[in-house]
This record gives sequence, structure tokens and C-alpha cells, in this order.
Amino acid sequence: MRKWIVAGNWKMHNTIGESVALARAIKEGLSGPTNGEVVVAPPFTALAAVGDTLKGSAVALAAQNMYCEDKGAFTGEISPVMLKDAGCAYVILGHSERRKYFSETDQSVNAKVKKALAAGLKPIVCVGETDEERVQGVTQSVVDRQVRGALAGIEKLDDVVIAYEPVWAIGTGKVATSAQAEEVHAFIRDLIGELYGSLSKGIRILYGGSVTKDNIAELAAMEDIDGALVGGASLKPDGFLGIVAKMT
Ligand code: 13P
Repeated sequence: MRKWIVAGNWKMHNTIGESVALARAIKEGLSGPTNGEVVVAPPFTALAAVGDTLKGSAVALAAQNMYCEDKGAFTGEISPVMLKDAGCAYVILGHSERRKYFSETDQSVNAKVKKALAAGLKPIVCVGETDEERVQGVTQSVVDRQVRGALAGIEKLDDVVIAYEPVWAIGTGKVATSAQAEEVHAFIRDLIGELYGSLSKGIRILYGGSVTKDNIAELAAMEDIDGALVGGASLKPDGFLGIVAKMT
């Protein structure tokens, strides 16, 4: 049985105070033990404070990005060592917004995945096609390239999580149907099976893109969907806890 994950990507939202308040509400609102993991990814400035707030709770901390070196003259960047120090267990890598606005490539994502794993962070690797690519019918080849690219040279998959986030579904309210999402999730699991054999059965593949408490149950019921990476709906305790509640 794969343990599900519900991860909240707060993107560029929330001051330190707002982040701590949201983290506290999530921590206090969780009821009882679950057979999954709850993760929040605040902005860099709030990581340490949220990490302190979450200490001893069942909620894990994630960063939204990192650089692929431990330290050095890389003005403006944050290293995996710093993320570990702030209390992170996970790091989101290759989000489509980073690919689009900050020129992330399959190569840079791959370098970061390697470095994250070496530092003991679990990467949540994002892949997904644009609207144009789906219309052109090249969804599978895009996702194939992104998954192969991100995982090139990586032997152990135990700590790797994949997030399928169709770009057209992010922040648009246009959620993929459970059938559309499952088709790509199954494709990704087959591809990983081709690359890694039976390890593909254990890897968690999350869906992201306009997930809410009203659509998560149908998505999560699918065979190859192991949870969600949530943007907008993760910014309010009720929205996020409502999603978690549907998983338990
Ligand atoms: P929304 O849930 O706001 O569509 O964002 C999804 C996302 O990008 C999570 O990483």
C-alpha cells in the first residue's frame, strides 16, 4: 500500500506571521492518526518559523525550490543544507511556474533532484503538459521527456515523489477529470516500471491542478493517484483540511 500525501504549495503567499498562523491551524485541525502524510510548503522566509511551529506534529515541511550546490557564491540562492537546517523533509522541484518564469529545464531539475537526495531531502518532482501540448496530442511525449530528464542517473527511487500537474489545470479552476489524470498517472507508472522495474509500484504520484475538497475524492479513488499537490485551496485551513479529511 502506498501512503498518500497531501501537500500544500503556498507559492508566493503569506508573511511569516500569516504562515505560522496557517501552519498552526492545520496542525491543530488534523484529527487522529492517518495512513498518509500531510506536507506544507511555505515561502523561504517563513520556513524556519513554520518548522518550529510544526515540531512534534504530524505535518512535514517542504521548500518550493532549491539550488543544486551546498554552499558558495550563488547570490540569491538557497541550498539543500539550509533547507534541512530549517526543518524541511521535502522540496518541490521543477514546478511549471519555475520552468515558465525562471527558465528551469529538465537538466537543471535533474541536478537539483540529485543534490536533494544526496542531502537527505525528498524531492517532489513536477511534470505536466501545457494546454497547447494537450491539444496537439503530445501530452505523453512531454511527460515522458520530463520524467526521464528529472530522473536521469538516479538509481534509488525510495524518496522520490512525482507530481503530475497539467499546466492548464493550475490556478484555472479547470481540474482534469479523474479519467484524464489517471491516464497520465498510469502512463508515468508504466514508464517508471520500464526504467526501474518493480520499484514503480512504490513510487507516489500526486495530482496537482485546481484540487479542492469537492473534487479530491474522485481523483484519489483512482488506482495510480496517490494524493495531491494543492495550490490555492491550501491557503485556508478549511480548504486544506477538507482535502485531507477526504483522504482518511
Ligand atoms: P492550484 O491548486 O491553485 O491549481 O495550484 C496547483 C499547483 O500549482 C500546486 O503546485
